Amino acid sequence: MPDTKLKGKTALVTGASSGIGRATALKLAAAGATVYATGRRQDVLDELATAVAHVDGKIISDAFDIRDAAKFQGFIDRAASETGTFNILVNNAGLSYPGSIADADPDKWRQMVDVNILALLTGSQKALQVMRAGGHHGHIVNISSTAARGDASGVYGATKAMVSSIATTLRSETEDDNIRVVNVCPGAVITNFARNFSPETINAVLGMLGLDLEFTPGMTLPQDVQDQINKAAPTLLLHADDIARAVLYAVTQPINVDVFEITVRPAKNLQL
Ligand SMILES: NC(=O)c1ccc[n+]([C@@H]2O[C@H](COP(=O)([O-])OP(=O)(O)OC[C@H]3O[C@@H](n4cnc5c(N)ncnc54)[C@H](OP(=O)(O)O)[C@@H]3O)[C@@H](O)[C@H]2O)c1
Repeated sequence: MPDTKLKGKTALVTGASSGIGRATALKLAAAGATVYATGRRQDVLDELATAVAHVDGKIISDAFDIRDAAKFQGFIDRAASETGTFNILVNNAGLSYPGSIADADPDKWRQMVDVNILALLTGSQKALQVMRAGGHHGHIVNISSTAARGDASGVYGATKAMVSSIATTLRSETEDDNIRVVNVCPGAVITNFARNFSPETINAVLGMLGLDLEFTPGMTLPQDVQDQINKAAPTLLLHADDIARAVLYAVTQPINVDVFEITVRPAKNLQL
Protein backbone atom coordinates (compact mmCIF):
# COMPACT_ATOMS: atom_id res chain seq x y z
CA MET A 1 0.00 0.00 0.00
CA PRO A 2 1.65 3.33 -1.02
CA ASP A 3 2.14 6.01 1.62
CA THR A 4 -0.11 8.96 0.67
CA LYS A 5 0.03 11.11 3.82
CA LEU A 6 1.42 14.03 1.80
CA LYS A 7 -0.45 13.49 -1.47
CA GLY A 8 -1.43 16.85 -2.98
CA LYS A 9 1.20 18.70 -0.90
CA THR A 10 4.13 20.64 -2.32
CA ALA A 11 7.45 20.75 -0.47
CA LEU A 12 10.80 22.38 -1.10
CA VAL A 13 13.98 20.98 0.43
CA THR A 14 17.29 22.85 0.34
CA GLY A 15 20.59 21.01 0.48
CA ALA A 16 18.89 17.99 -1.07
CA SER A 17 21.99 16.81 -2.95
CA SER A 18 23.44 15.21 0.16
CA GLY A 19 22.88 13.82 3.63
CA ILE A 20 19.86 14.94 5.64
CA GLY A 21 18.34 16.99 2.80
CA ARG A 22 18.60 14.11 0.38
CA ALA A 23 17.00 11.68 2.84
CA THR A 24 14.25 14.22 3.61
CA ALA A 25 13.44 14.86 -0.06
CA LEU A 26 13.17 11.08 -0.63
CA LYS A 27 11.03 10.63 2.50
CA LEU A 28 8.56 13.40 1.63
CA ALA A 29 8.24 12.15 -1.96
CA ALA A 30 7.69 8.60 -0.69
CA ALA A 31 4.78 10.00 1.36
CA GLY A 32 3.24 11.40 -1.84
CA ALA A 33 4.49 15.01 -1.90
CA THR A 34 5.73 16.84 -4.96
CA VAL A 35 9.19 17.86 -3.81
CA TYR A 36 11.24 20.70 -5.26
CA ALA A 37 14.83 19.92 -4.41
CA THR A 38 17.87 22.13 -4.58
CA GLY A 39 21.59 21.88 -3.87
CA ARG A 40 24.68 22.75 -5.86
CA ARG A 41 25.23 19.51 -7.80
CA GLN A 42 22.67 18.92 -10.56
CA ASP A 43 24.01 15.44 -11.42
CA VAL A 44 23.29 14.24 -7.89
CA LEU A 45 19.89 15.96 -7.80
CA ASP A 46 18.98 14.23 -11.10
CA GLU A 47 19.50 10.85 -9.40
CA LEU A 48 16.81 11.72 -6.83
CA ALA A 49 14.11 11.91 -9.49
CA THR A 50 15.04 8.41 -10.65
CA ALA A 51 15.16 7.10 -7.08
CA VAL A 52 11.48 8.01 -6.51
CA ALA A 53 10.18 6.74 -9.86
CA HIS A 54 8.25 3.96 -8.05
CA VAL A 55 6.51 6.11 -5.38
CA ASP A 56 3.46 8.37 -5.42
CA GLY A 57 5.32 11.67 -5.12
CA LYS A 58 7.98 13.14 -7.37
CA ILE A 59 11.13 15.22 -7.18
CA ILE A 60 11.84 18.22 -9.40
CA SER A 61 15.26 19.78 -9.01
CA ASP A 62 17.30 22.83 -9.83
CA ALA A 63 20.90 23.38 -8.74
CA PHE A 64 21.99 26.83 -7.61
CA ASP A 65 23.84 28.53 -4.81
CA ILE A 66 21.31 29.09 -2.01
CA ARG A 67 22.96 32.44 -1.25
CA ASP A 68 21.36 33.75 -4.47
CA ALA A 69 18.18 35.12 -2.88
CA ALA A 70 16.42 35.85 -6.18
CA LYS A 71 16.97 32.28 -7.42
CA PHE A 72 15.85 30.75 -4.12
CA GLN A 73 12.71 32.85 -3.87
CA GLY A 74 12.04 32.25 -7.59
CA PHE A 75 12.24 28.48 -7.02
CA ILE A 76 9.59 28.73 -4.27
CA ASP A 77 7.40 30.77 -6.63
CA ARG A 78 7.92 28.15 -9.33
CA ALA A 79 6.92 25.32 -6.97
CA ALA A 80 3.73 27.16 -5.99
CA SER A 81 2.76 28.18 -9.51
CA GLU A 82 3.41 24.76 -11.09
CA THR A 83 1.47 22.83 -8.43
CA GLY A 84 -1.06 25.42 -7.21
CA THR A 85 0.01 25.07 -3.59
CA PHE A 86 3.01 25.39 -1.28
CA ASN A 87 3.01 23.57 2.06
CA ILE A 88 6.46 22.63 3.35
CA LEU A 89 9.81 24.40 3.30
CA VAL A 90 12.73 22.46 4.76
CA ASN A 91 15.60 24.90 5.41
CA ASN A 92 18.32 22.27 5.49
CA ALA A 93 21.33 23.54 3.46
CA GLY A 94 24.12 24.26 5.88
CA LEU A 95 27.80 23.94 6.54
CA SER A 96 30.38 24.10 9.27
CA TYR A 97 33.98 25.23 9.36
CA PRO A 98 35.17 24.19 12.79
CA GLY A 99 38.14 25.89 14.40
CA SER A 100 39.14 28.58 16.79
CA ILE A 101 38.05 32.16 16.30
CA ALA A 102 41.63 33.32 16.75
CA ASP A 103 42.87 31.36 13.73
CA ALA A 104 39.84 31.49 11.42
CA ASP A 105 39.51 32.94 7.93
CA PRO A 106 36.62 35.47 8.15
CA ASP A 107 35.39 34.35 4.73
CA LYS A 108 34.45 30.99 6.32
CA TRP A 109 32.36 32.80 8.96
CA ARG A 110 30.68 34.71 6.13
CA GLN A 111 29.82 31.47 4.29
CA MET A 112 28.26 29.96 7.43
CA VAL A 113 26.25 33.12 8.15
CA ASP A 114 25.13 33.47 4.52
CA VAL A 115 23.99 29.84 4.13
CA ASN A 116 22.94 28.82 7.67
CA ILE A 117 21.13 32.08 8.51
CA LEU A 118 20.52 34.48 5.64
CA ALA A 119 19.35 31.85 3.14
CA LEU A 120 17.04 30.40 5.82
CA LEU A 121 15.55 33.87 6.31
CA THR A 122 15.19 34.47 2.58
CA GLY A 123 13.40 31.17 2.07
CA SER A 124 11.21 31.53 5.15
CA GLN A 125 10.12 35.01 4.10
CA LYS A 126 9.06 33.85 0.62
CA ALA A 127 7.40 30.68 1.93
CA LEU A 128 5.31 32.73 4.37
CA GLN A 129 4.28 35.16 1.65
CA VAL A 130 3.28 32.36 -0.73
CA MET A 131 1.47 30.32 1.96
CA ARG A 132 -0.44 33.38 3.17
CA ALA A 133 -1.33 34.59 -0.33
CA GLY A 134 -2.69 31.16 -1.26
CA GLY A 135 -4.27 30.43 2.14
CA HIS A 136 -2.26 27.19 2.28
CA HIS A 137 -1.63 25.13 5.41
CA GLY A 138 2.07 24.70 5.88
CA HIS A 139 5.24 24.00 7.82
CA ILE A 140 8.60 25.70 7.83
CA VAL A 141 11.14 23.20 9.12
CA ASN A 142 14.64 24.33 10.05
CA ILE A 143 17.40 21.78 10.37
CA SER A 144 19.17 23.29 13.34
CA SER A 145 21.58 21.32 15.53
CA THR A 146 22.32 20.23 19.07
CA ALA A 147 25.27 22.64 18.61
CA ALA A 148 22.70 25.46 18.95
CA ARG A 149 22.79 24.92 22.69
CA GLY A 150 26.29 23.46 23.03
CA ASP A 151 28.96 25.24 24.96
CA ALA A 152 31.80 26.64 22.87
CA SER A 153 30.42 25.19 19.64
CA GLY A 154 32.11 27.87 17.59
CA VAL A 155 30.71 30.21 14.99
CA TYR A 156 28.78 27.26 13.53
CA GLY A 157 26.98 26.69 16.86
CA ALA A 158 26.29 30.42 17.03
CA THR A 159 24.61 30.32 13.60
CA LYS A 160 22.39 27.47 14.81
CA ALA A 161 21.53 29.35 18.02
CA MET A 162 20.39 32.16 15.76
CA VAL A 163 18.20 29.70 13.84
CA SER A 164 16.43 28.92 17.14
CA SER A 165 15.97 32.59 17.86
CA ILE A 166 14.59 33.27 14.36
CA ALA A 167 12.21 30.29 14.71
CA THR A 168 10.82 31.73 17.94
CA THR A 169 10.02 35.00 16.17
CA LEU A 170 8.56 33.24 13.12
CA ARG A 171 6.35 31.13 15.40
CA SER A 172 4.93 34.18 17.06
CA GLU A 173 4.40 35.90 13.67
CA THR A 174 2.43 32.89 12.39
CA GLU A 175 0.27 32.07 15.42
CA ASP A 176 -2.84 33.22 13.57
CA ASP A 177 -1.94 31.51 10.29
CA ASN A 178 -2.20 27.85 9.46
CA ILE A 179 1.58 27.77 9.42
CA ARG A 180 3.78 26.02 11.98
CA VAL A 181 7.53 26.48 12.48
CA VAL A 182 9.56 23.47 13.56
CA ASN A 183 13.21 23.15 14.57
CA VAL A 184 14.80 19.75 14.15
CA CYS A 185 18.07 19.45 16.09
CA PRO A 186 20.23 16.51 15.04
CA GLY A 187 23.24 15.23 16.94
CA ALA A 188 25.97 13.50 14.91
CA VAL A 189 24.72 12.07 11.60
CA ILE A 190 26.86 10.43 8.93
CA THR A 191 26.58 12.72 5.89
CA ASN A 192 29.05 14.91 4.03
CA PHE A 193 28.86 17.49 6.81
CA ALA A 194 32.49 16.83 7.80
CA ARG A 195 33.75 17.84 4.34
CA ASN A 196 35.41 20.97 5.82
CA PHE A 197 36.73 19.28 8.98
CA SER A 198 40.41 18.59 9.53
CA PRO A 199 41.56 15.33 7.85
CA GLU A 200 43.37 14.35 11.07
CA THR A 201 40.10 14.38 13.05
CA ILE A 202 38.10 12.51 10.42
CA ASN A 203 40.80 9.96 9.67
CA ALA A 204 41.10 9.28 13.41
CA VAL A 205 37.34 8.53 13.55
CA LEU A 206 37.51 6.35 10.41
CA GLY A 207 40.47 4.47 11.91
CA MET A 208 38.61 4.02 15.23
CA LEU A 209 35.74 2.46 13.24
CA GLY A 210 38.16 0.15 11.45
CA LEU A 211 37.33 1.63 8.02
CA ASP A 212 39.99 1.60 5.32
CA LEU A 213 39.25 5.04 3.87
CA GLU A 214 41.48 8.10 3.51
CA PHE A 215 39.59 11.38 3.97
CA THR A 216 40.87 14.46 2.15
CA PRO A 217 39.48 18.02 2.59
CA GLY A 218 36.33 18.77 0.58
CA MET A 219 35.73 15.08 -0.16
CA THR A 220 32.11 13.90 -0.49
CA LEU A 221 31.29 10.29 0.30
CA PRO A 222 28.85 8.31 -1.84
CA GLN A 223 25.67 7.18 -0.05
CA ASP A 224 26.75 3.51 0.03
CA VAL A 225 29.93 4.45 1.94
CA GLN A 226 27.87 6.56 4.39
CA ASP A 227 25.56 3.54 4.89
CA GLN A 228 28.62 1.40 5.60
CA ILE A 229 29.91 3.89 8.21
CA ASN A 230 26.49 4.02 9.87
CA LYS A 231 26.48 0.21 10.08
CA ALA A 232 29.98 0.28 11.63
CA ALA A 233 29.00 2.81 14.31
CA PRO A 234 25.23 2.92 14.82
CA THR A 235 25.52 4.15 18.39
CA LEU A 236 27.87 7.02 17.45
CA LEU A 237 26.44 8.24 14.16
CA LEU A 238 22.81 8.35 13.06
CA HIS A 239 21.69 7.66 9.50
CA ALA A 240 20.27 10.65 7.58
CA ASP A 241 16.97 8.78 7.33
CA ASP A 242 16.66 8.96 11.15
CA ILE A 243 16.34 12.74 10.78
CA ALA A 244 14.08 12.53 7.73
CA ARG A 245 11.59 10.51 9.81
CA ALA A 246 11.50 13.31 12.39
CA VAL A 247 10.74 15.83 9.63
CA LEU A 248 7.97 13.60 8.27
CA TYR A 249 6.48 13.29 11.76
CA ALA A 250 6.42 17.07 12.22
CA VAL A 251 4.85 17.89 8.86
CA THR A 252 2.14 15.24 9.12
CA GLN A 253 0.67 16.44 12.42
CA PRO A 254 -2.65 18.35 12.40
CA ILE A 255 -2.02 22.04 11.68
CA ASN A 256 -3.16 23.12 15.17
CA VAL A 257 -0.34 21.02 16.68
CA ASP A 258 2.85 23.01 17.18
CA VAL A 259 5.76 20.58 17.02
CA PHE A 260 8.14 23.15 18.45
CA GLU A 261 11.44 21.31 18.42
CA ILE A 262 12.67 17.75 17.96
CA THR A 263 16.12 16.67 19.12
CA VAL A 264 17.41 13.44 17.58
CA ARG A 265 20.75 12.16 18.85
CA PRO A 266 22.72 8.93 18.57
CA ALA A 267 22.90 6.87 21.74
CA LYS A 268 26.45 8.07 22.43
CA ASN A 269 27.47 11.70 22.13
CA LEU A 270 30.33 12.07 19.65
CA GLN A 271 32.46 15.15 20.37
CA LEU A 272 34.39 16.19 17.25
N1 LIG B 1 25.53 15.75 9.91
C1 LIG B 1 25.44 16.17 11.15
O1 LIG B 1 26.03 15.57 12.08
C2 LIG B 1 24.56 17.37 11.48
C3 LIG B 1 24.26 17.59 12.84
C4 LIG B 1 23.44 18.67 13.17
C5 LIG B 1 22.95 19.49 12.17
N2 LIG B 1 23.27 19.27 10.85
C6 LIG B 1 22.70 20.17 9.86
O2 LIG B 1 22.06 19.42 8.87
C7 LIG B 1 21.99 20.18 7.66
C8 LIG B 1 22.37 19.30 6.49
O3 LIG B 1 23.72 18.92 6.64
P1 LIG B 1 24.25 17.45 6.27
O4 LIG B 1 24.74 16.86 7.52
O5 LIG B 1 23.26 16.71 5.47
O6 LIG B 1 25.54 17.86 5.41
P2 LIG B 1 25.93 17.62 3.87
O7 LIG B 1 25.84 16.18 3.56
O8 LIG B 1 27.23 18.31 3.70
O9 LIG B 1 24.80 18.39 3.05
C9 LIG B 1 24.76 19.80 3.01
C10 LIG B 1 23.85 20.23 1.89
O10 LIG B 1 23.83 21.68 1.84
C11 LIG B 1 24.12 22.09 0.51
N3 LIG B 1 24.79 23.39 0.51
C12 LIG B 1 25.82 23.80 1.27
N4 LIG B 1 26.17 25.05 0.91
C13 LIG B 1 25.34 25.42 -0.09
C14 LIG B 1 25.21 26.59 -0.89
N5 LIG B 1 26.02 27.66 -0.74
N6 LIG B 1 24.23 26.62 -1.84
C15 LIG B 1 23.43 25.56 -2.02
N7 LIG B 1 23.50 24.42 -1.30
C16 LIG B 1 24.45 24.37 -0.34
C17 LIG B 1 25.03 20.99 -0.05
O11 LIG B 1 25.02 21.04 -1.46
P3 LIG B 1 26.20 20.30 -2.34
O12 LIG B 1 26.50 18.98 -1.66
O13 LIG B 1 25.55 20.12 -3.68
O14 LIG B 1 27.36 21.21 -2.33
C18 LIG B 1 24.34 19.76 0.52
O15 LIG B 1 23.23 19.42 -0.27
C19 LIG B 1 22.90 21.39 7.87
O16 LIG B 1 22.12 22.54 8.12
C20 LIG B 1 23.70 21.01 9.10
O17 LIG B 1 24.12 22.14 9.81
C21 LIG B 1 24.06 18.22 10.49
